[in-house]
This record gives sequence, C-alpha cells and structure tokens, in this order.
Amino acid sequence: MSKSKIRLEREYKRKQEFRNKKLRQKQTKELSPLDTLNEEQLKAVYSKHKHNLIIASAGTGKTSTIIGRVVRLLQEGIKPDEIILLTFTSKAGTEMLERLEKHFSSDVVSEIFAGTFHSYGKMLMDKAGIPLKLKKQKDLTSLIASLMEKNIFKQNVENPYSASAINGYIGLYENTRDNETFSEWLMAKFQEKYESSKTEASADRVEAQMQAIEMYEWLYQEYINEKKFHEFCDFNDLLKYIGIYYNKNPNRVKQIIVDEYQDTNTLQNKVLKKMADMGSRVFAVGDYDQSIYGFNGSDVEVVREFPKRYQDTGIFNLSKNYRSSKQILGLANNCIENNDRIIPKRLVAMKSGVFPEPTLKIYETIREQYRGVAEMIDSSHYDNNDIAILFRSNNSGNLMEAILIEMGIPTVRVKSGSFFDGVDIATMVSVYRIITGSATVLDFLNLNNYVGADKNTCKEMFDAVQRGSNKASAIREYVKPTIYSLDARVKDFIRLLEETEGITSPFTIFRIIIDNPCYQVLFNNTFEMAKRFNKNTEDSLIIEQIEQKHELLLRIAQSCDTPREFNMKLNLSSKEEDNEYGVKLLTVHASKGLEFKSVYVIDLSEERFPNLKLAKGGAGIDEERRLFYVALTRAEEHLVLTTYKVDDTKKTPKGVQISRFIKESGITEV
Ligand SMILES: Nc1ncnc2c1ncn2[C@@H]1O[C@H](COP(=O)(O)OP(=O)(O)OP(=O)(O)O)[C@@H](O)[C@H]1O
Ligand SMILES: [Mg+2]
Repeated sequence: MSKSKIRLEREYKRKQEFRNKKLRQKQTKELSPLDTLNEEQLKAVYSKHKHNLIIASAGTGKTSTIIGRVVRLLQEGIKPDEIILLTFTSKAGTEMLERLEKHFSSDVVSEIFAGTFHSYGKMLMDKAGIPLKLKKQKDLTSLIASLMEKNIFKQNVENPYSASAINGYIGLYENTRDNETFSEWLMAKFQEKYESSKTEASADRVEAQMQAIEMYEWLYQEYINEKKFHEFCDFNDLLKYIGIYYNKNPNRVKQIIVDEYQDTNTLQNKVLKKMADMGSRVFAVGDYDQSIYGFNGSDVEVVREFPKRYQDTGIFNLSKNYRSSKQILGLANNCIENNDRIIPKRLVAMKSGVFPEPTLKIYETIREQYRGVAEMIDSSHYDNNDIAILFRSNNSGNLMEAILIEMGIPTVRVKSGSFFDGVDIATMVSVYRIITGSATVLDFLNLNNYVGADKNTCKEMFDAVQRGSNKASAIREYVKPTIYSLDARVKDFIRLLEETEGITSPFTIFRIIIDNPCYQVLFNNTFEMAKRFNKNTEDSLIIEQIEQKHELLLRIAQSCDTPREFNMKLNLSSKEEDNEYGVKLLTVHASKGLEFKSVYVIDLSEERFPNLKLAKGGAGIDEERRLFYVALTRAEEHLVLTTYKVDDTKKTPKGVQISRFIKESGITEV
C-alpha cells in the first residue's frame, strides 16, 4: 500500500474513533469554576452593583467569568428559572449549560434558559401558545416581491430596488430604529446613497425612489399586515415578542447575563432595557474590539452607552489573557490600536512556555497558497482537530477544503455547507453511488437534478432497480415516462449505466457522468440557482466557478483508485454537527468565542481581507480590522498568516496588493 493510502486509512480510522469517543464520553467532575478564576474575574463575579459591564480583550476569560457568576447566583439562592443567559449562538448556550451540569444537577440546570435572544423570544411565544410560524428570509422576500407586483406599487415606483434589498432595509430598520417611521428612516438611507452615488444612472435611480418614498411606507405596512394575516414571523418578530410578552406578564427574571454584548443591536437593547426597567439585573460581557456584526445593525456604541443607560453600573476590566502566546497577542494589538479605544483596556499575556513565532507566507497565486497551507498542515505536528483555517468570506473555504480532502486530510466545515453539500456535487455523488451500487432511495430522488425527472419517476427508477439484477435493463423494462422529452433523458441515463458497467475507477465514472447529455440538465439547474443568489455577477464568471468546482471533484476522484478510497474521502469531509474530527474551516464571523492551538488565516489580500466591498455595506474598515483582530486572537500557540500576489481564480489573472493588516500587525516574511 502506498504511503498516502496508509495515511488515508489512518485519518479515516481516527475520525471514526473520535466520533465514538465523543459518544462514549461520560461527564467528569471538574474543579468548581470559581476555584479557577483570578482576582479580577472574581471581583466581577461577586459585584454587588445592580448592573455590570465587563469589558475586556479576547481570551481574558469573559465567558469563564459568566459561568462563575451563574455558580455564585445559584449558590446564593437565586432560582435557576430566574436566570437567563443570552449567548450569540445556540451552541454557545448549550455549551454553557453543559459546563454547569458538571456542578449542579440536571434538574437545576434545565431550568436556566441559555440561548440566543431570538430563541428566548421563541420560547416565550411557545409558552404563551402563540401559533406564529417562523419563516425563512427567502420566503418573506417572495412575499414582499408579490406586494411589489401590485399595480399600485408598480405604477408609482420607477425602477425599484429588488425585494431582497428592501427586505434587508426592513430588517435593518427594525434592528436599529428609534422612533421614526420606515419611510423617514429609509429616506435618510436613500439620501446617503444619493450622496455617495458614483454614476449619474445610480443617482437618478435613488432619486426616483426618494420621490416615491410614501410607496415604501405603503409596502412596509402591507407587508406587516400580510405577515399578521398568514401568522408568519421573522427573527425580529421573535425579539419584538419579548417586549409584548412582558407587557402582559410579570417579569420573574432576576438576572440577565449577556455574552458578546458588543454585538447586540438596538432592538435587543430595547428588550434588555425593558426587562431591566421591570426589575431584571443585567450582567453584560463583551469586547468592543470584537464587534463584527455592524452589517446586521450592531453598534459598538452600545458599550459606551451602557453606564448611561443603566443606573448603578459596575464596570470591570479583565487584563490577563490566558489563551494566546505573547507573540500572537503582540501582532493582534499592533493592528487593533489603529481603531478608536472606547474604554481603555490593559492586556497581559499569561501563557507560559516556548511557542513558535507567528509566520507570514506570501505565495504567487491563490491556488499555490491553498496548496501551501494544505502542505503545512499535512506536515504539522498539531493534531488535525486542534487546527483551524479562518477566512473573511465563505467562498475562500471551498477550494481550500477540496485541496485538503484531495490530500486525505479530514476537514470540518463549521456553520456552512461543506463542498460535498452543494446540490450539484451532491447530485453527482448520488449518480456515482447509483453506478457503484451503494445508493439509497435518497440518491435516486436526487436524479431529479440530473435526469430532470419528477420525483415520482425517480422513485420508480429506485423500485425498478430493486426488482432487477441489472440496473440498466430494469429501468428500461419498468420505467415508462409519459413525457417524450423525459423519455429521451431516461434513455441517456440508461446509456450511462451501461457505459459504466464494470468500471471501478472513480475518476473514469465521474468523467462519463460529465460527458453524458444529462449533465447539461444539472449544469443548467446549478447555473440558474447560482444566478438567483448572485444577480449582479456576470454569467461567464458563474459558469467558470461551476466548472472549477466540478473540476475539483474530478481531481478528488482522480486521487482515488477504488470506490472504497473515494468513499473514505467523502467521509473525511463533514459539517460540524457533533464535534466532528478534523481541521476546522470557518469564517471569522463563525469563529467568535472559539480557540484553537494552531490557526491559519488565509487570503489576506486587499481584495479579500479587508473585503472593501463588504466593508462599505457594514461599518467600514474599522470593522474589517476588528475581524482581523478576532481571527488572530483565536490562536493559542501557533499562527500562520498567508496571502498571494495574483488572483488566479478569475479568467484573467489579476495582480493584488497584500492586506494592509499584515503591515499594521508588524509581521514580516522570514
Ligand atoms: N483564571 C484563569 N486561569 C487560567 N485559565 C483561564 C482563566 N480564565 C479563563 N481561562 C482560560 O482562558 C481561555 C479563554 O477564556 P474565555 O473563552 O472565557 O475568554 P473570552 O474572554 O470569553 O474570549 P473571547 O473574547 O474570545 O470570547 C480559555 O481556555 C479558559 O479556559
Ligand atoms: Mg468569550
């Protein structure tokens, strides 16, 4: 067996073992969280102030202090259902409860609410028996689009913005408004847009919207009515419901603890204030340097305003960083000092030991960069599970993930679909499984994307294959589509089955899948779907991206000699569901609050990180810098920053500048 095969077997086994270990893992008794806290942290935990604000840099034990605070409250006799713990993600909430379960019985812990603001709203809604149905933004956007189709709107608004843009505005308005109406708020937004218009055409377009501003108010009101009528709700309605609930019910909550406070928005703060006015005490924990959700209405100013908003506030600072090496903290601090210091913070590195210097690698092209990173990881002495690759936007992860898989390195895509989850890739893999005999009915149902058959015909094909020993002849015999065009494609599919009979090379099978006329159906569907999500992207670029993705699948197949090997590679990639084993690939946004021994921050160029296009829509370059700060401070011991000089993923390769943050951090290439 070749060296790479032995590795593949080993990694596959390791991934399986990890999964089993997690399943078996028993609760272990731990030292009380209070015993592990330092003096500064304990001061916050035992604060007698009515409200408290803990502002401290990354890795100083803010989240650990929250656990300590809950322990203290419970020990002092506060009832568990009088405490709510508001976290940025549901997973963070669950993890806090798991930590508490090591010290209190599950009866006690299950009474504490821990989760996001939204899930708290949902819980109250369920408790009150309100039957609202939570709808996806996508569905609500189509509701808005349908209202925009009404004559009254169509005839009065020239060249309106898209329904999804308007839905975005509505969300932002509800998250950030004071007392103004939607049209007043929107008018101010349009004014800003008008002033920053680069072309006459875009200025004219905004002007037309400003003239029809009352129609946008009409649209908003209609939308609210429609939602009410259909009993739909969105995430903001869940937040708003918390206020409504407490208008009707007494507030039993004595203590509200909020983690990642810097990323709360105006609406969430209104809810908090209302509950505080009804007797709850607020214990907010955050770091203004890590405020990274400006595009969603969060505003670092909430941190500055906290003491003004709440009477009798204790402000605490934690200055000891336990997470990262001195060198890593140095780089992160050099960079973040370019932003406004809202409340002074001190930071002392506490980690002892000898750690490698952070390194910077500048590659010629993006692809060389990804390969370089994969090779470094391949020869790293860190366990794959302790390594994370961080990027500014999700599309950086796709190519990176595929190269790691090609090299047989297990990966976990955190909070976003894995490479193999894309509908097109998943469909091709389903076709491959049908050919190699490892398919389930679900794989047959996926044929709907490849053969273009309705689900019923797909199911008939599955049933047929169960009846006959030869797949091609069984389908020929038992499946009789009534539509002529479908009949032709089913025939193409039968031909595919015949052509691949007896072939075991995954690469050859995928080549034949791509050469078959059915592939055109898949390609067209994929294109249509991508176009819907990227309306302003040129067709040629979308086509190119799809081709690249499929080429990668071929490359992965080419690196495997047998179906078993290919299946193992498929299993090396997973979505984060239950603490899966592997190198974590995630956006900086998704990495909030997490820590890893070894971190690679990739694509550090002026086009990708900072992402000036996204920065314009959000809170500008300062927020991009905060993202960079969050990325660096995830690393405990080992940090690698990588960048490239030429973007070779575009049809015409383009030279780019390296990220300004590299310079600001003071790191140099060795
Ligand atoms: N007093 C302490 N002594 C030793 N280690 C500590 C102490 N407090 C926290 N830690 C450890 O420091 C690391 C960072 O802690 P934690 O995640 O609570 O920081 P944080 O301030 O919430 O970070 P972030 O800003 O990234 O959310 C964790 O590994 C935690 O176990
Ligand atoms: Mg934290």
